[in-house]
Amino acid sequence: AMRAIAISFVWSFLAILMTSTPTASDKPALLAFKAQVSHGGSLASWNSSVGFCSWQGVVCSQRRPMRVVALTLDGTGLVGPLSPAIGNLTFLRMLNLRSNSFHGVIPASLGRLRRLRWLYLDTNSFSGTIPANLSACVRMIEMRLDNNTLGGPIPAELGEKLTSLEVITLRNNSFTGPIPTSLANLSHLHAVSLADNQLVGSIPPGLGSIQSMRYFGLFNNLLNGMLPPSIYNWSLLETFDVGQNMFSGSIPDDIGSKFPKLRYLGAGGNHFTGTIPSSISNMSSLVRLSLVQNNFSGYVPPMLGKLGTLQEVNLAVNKLEANDNKGWEFITSLANCSQLLRLSLNFNSFGGQLPGTIVNLSTTLQTLSLSSNMISGIIWLVWKHLG
Ligand SMILES: *[C@@H]1O[C@H](CO)[C@@H](O)[C@H](O)[C@H]1NC(C)=O
Ligand SMILES: *[C@@H]1O[C@H](CO)[C@@H](O)[C@H](O)[C@H]1NC(C)=O
Ligand SMILES: *[C@@H]1O[C@H](CO)[C@@H](O)[C@H](O)[C@H]1NC(C)=O
Ligand SMILES: *[C@@H]1O[C@H](CO)[C@@H](O)[C@H](O)[C@H]1NC(C)=O
Ligand SMILES: *[C@@H]1O[C@H](CO)[C@@H](O)[C@H](O)[C@H]1NC(C)=O
Ligand SMILES: *[C@@H]1O[C@H](CO)[C@@H](O)[C@H](O)[C@H]1NC(C)=O
Ligand SMILES: *[C@@H]1O[C@H](CO)[C@@H](O)[C@H](O)[C@H]1NC(C)=O
Ligand SMILES: *[C@@H]1O[C@H](CO)[C@@H](O)[C@H](O)[C@H]1NC(C)=O
Ligand SMILES: *[C@@H]1O[C@H](CO)[C@@H](O)[C@H](O)[C@H]1NC(C)=O
Ligand SMILES: *[C@@H]1O[C@H](CO)[C@@H](O)[C@H](O)[C@H]1NC(C)=O
Ligand SMILES: *[C@@H]1O[C@H](CO)[C@@H](O)[C@H](O)[C@H]1NC(C)=O
Repeated sequence: AMRAIAISFVWSFLAILMTSTPTASDKPALLAFKAQVSHGGSLASWNSSVGFCSWQGVVCSQRRPMRVVALTLDGTGLVGPLSPAIGNLTFLRMLNLRSNSFHGVIPASLGRLRRLRWLYLDTNSFSGTIPANLSACVRMIEMRLDNNTLGGPIPAELGEKLTSLEVITLRNNSFTGPIPTSLANLSHLHAVSLADNQLVGSIPPGLGSIQSMRYFGLFNNLLNGMLPPSIYNWSLLETFDVGQNMFSGSIPDDIGSKFPKLRYLGAGGNHFTGTIPSSISNMSSLVRLSLVQNNFSGYVPPMLGKLGTLQEVNLAVNKLEANDNKGWEFITSLANCSQLLRLSLNFNSFGGQLPGTIVNLSTTLQTLSLSSNMISGIIWLVWKHLG
C-alpha cells in the first residue's frame, strides 16, 4: 500500500510539474529574429492574428508542443544580422535563408541546433569565420555557405563531428589555410565545393577513401602539389575541377577507366605536364574538357571524338603538337561530336597542314581557336567556309 501511495504521489507530482511549466514556445525566438531584420513586408504575416506556425516560411512539428522544424525564407529580401535567438529553435531541422542580405557573423548559437540537417545560408553577406560550434550540429547533411564574405580556416572540427555530412559548399568566400584532413572522416560526402577561396596546401590523400564523391570543385585557390593517387578511387565522380591552382604532375594513363561517369574535367591554369592520356576517349559521359594553360605535350588522343557528348574542348596554351604525318587525327574524329560548341587549340605547337576534315566539325560550333600555332591551311579553311 505504501508503494502504491508513493507511486501515485510521484504521478501527481509529475502532473503538477507538466501543467505548471509553461510549454516552451518558439514564438519569442522568431520575434527576436524578425526584430533584427528589415524585411520590406515579406514578414507581414508574422503578426499576432494567427499562430506562429502559420507565419510565412515557418513549418512546425505535427505533434504538440508545436515546435518550429523548418524556417524557409530564401530570397525574401531580408536585410540585417541573424539573431543569436535562432539557437533557441532547438527542433529546427532546416534553416534556409539563402539569397537574402544577412550580414554580420553566423551566430555560434547555431551549435545548439542538434536536430539541424540542412543549413542554407548561401548568397548573403555573412562575414567572420565558420563558428567551430557548428560541429555540434551532428545530424547535419548539407551545409551551404557559398557567396558570402566568410574567411579564416575551415574548422577541422567539422570533419571530426559532422559524420552525416553529404554536401559542403563554401564557394566564393575568403577561406584560408588548408583543406582539413579530417574531412576524410566524412564517408557520405558527395559534393565538396571550395572554389574561389584562398586555400593553400595540397589535397589530403585520405579524401580518396570517400567512395560517394560525385562533385569535387577546388577552382581558383592557391593549392599545389600532385593530385594524390587515392582520388582515382572516386568511381562515381561527375565533376572534377581543380583549375586555377598550382597543381603539378601528370594525368595517369588509365584515368579513363577510373572516372567512368565524369562529365566535367577541369585542370586548366596549373603546372601539369606529360601527355593527355588516350584513355580519356573512354570517359563516355564527358561534356567539358579544360586543360588550358598547362605544359601538356605530345599528341592529342586520336579518338577524342568517341566522346559523342563533348561540347567544349579547351587545350589552349600548352605544348601539344601535330605535323603532316601525325597528331591531327583527333580533328577527324571530333566530327562525331554533334554538340560541339567550343574547340580551343591556340598557343600550342600544332604544325603542318590543317586536315580537310575540319569542315566536318558540327555546325553547332561557335568558337574555333587555332591562332599562335604553326599551322598552314587556315586561309583555305576560311575560304571554304565563306565560299
Ligand atoms: C533563448 O534562450 C535563452 C536560454 O534558454 C534565453 O535566456 C533567452 O531569453 C531566449 N531568447 C529568446 C528570444 O527566446
Ligand atoms: C497578419 O497576417 C495575416 C496572414 O497571416 C494577414 O492576412 C494580415 O494582413 C496580417 N496583418 C497585418 C497587419 O499585416
Ligand atoms: C556552442 O554550442 C554548445 C554546444 O551545443 C552550446 O552549449 C553553446 O551554448 C554554444 N555557444 C553559443 C555561443 O551559443
Ligand atoms: C553565387 O552567386 C552567383 C553570381 O551571383 C550565382 O550565379 C550562383 O548561383 C550563386 N551560388 C549559389 C550556390 O547560390
Ligand atoms: C560572389 O558572391 C557575391 C556575394 O553574394 C556575389 O555578388 C558575386 O557575384 C559572387 N561571385 C561569383 C563569382 O559567384
Ligand atoms: C577524423 O580525422 C582526424 C584527422 O584526420 C583523425 O585524427 C580522427 O581520428 C578522425 N576521426 C574519426 C572518427 O575517424
Ligand atoms: C584508393 O587508392 C589507394 C591508392 O591508389 C589505394 O591504396 C586504396 O586501397 C584505395 N581504396 C581506398 C578505399 O582508399
Ligand atoms: C611550362 O614549362 C616552362 C619551362 O619549363 C616554364 O617556364 C613554364 O612556367 C611552365 N608553364 C606552366 C603553365 O607550368
Ligand atoms: C578503352 O576501354 C576499352 C574497353 O574497356 C579498353 O579495351 C581500351 O583499352 C580502353 N582504351 C584506352 C585508350 O584506354
Ligand atoms: C561517335 O559517338 C558515339 C557516342 O555518341 C560513340 O558511341 C561512337 O563510338 C563514336 N564513333 C566514333 C567513330 O568515334
Ligand atoms: C565530311 O563528311 C561527309 C559526309 O560524311 C563526307 O562525305 C566527306 O568526305 C567529309 N569530308 C571530309 C573532308 O572528310
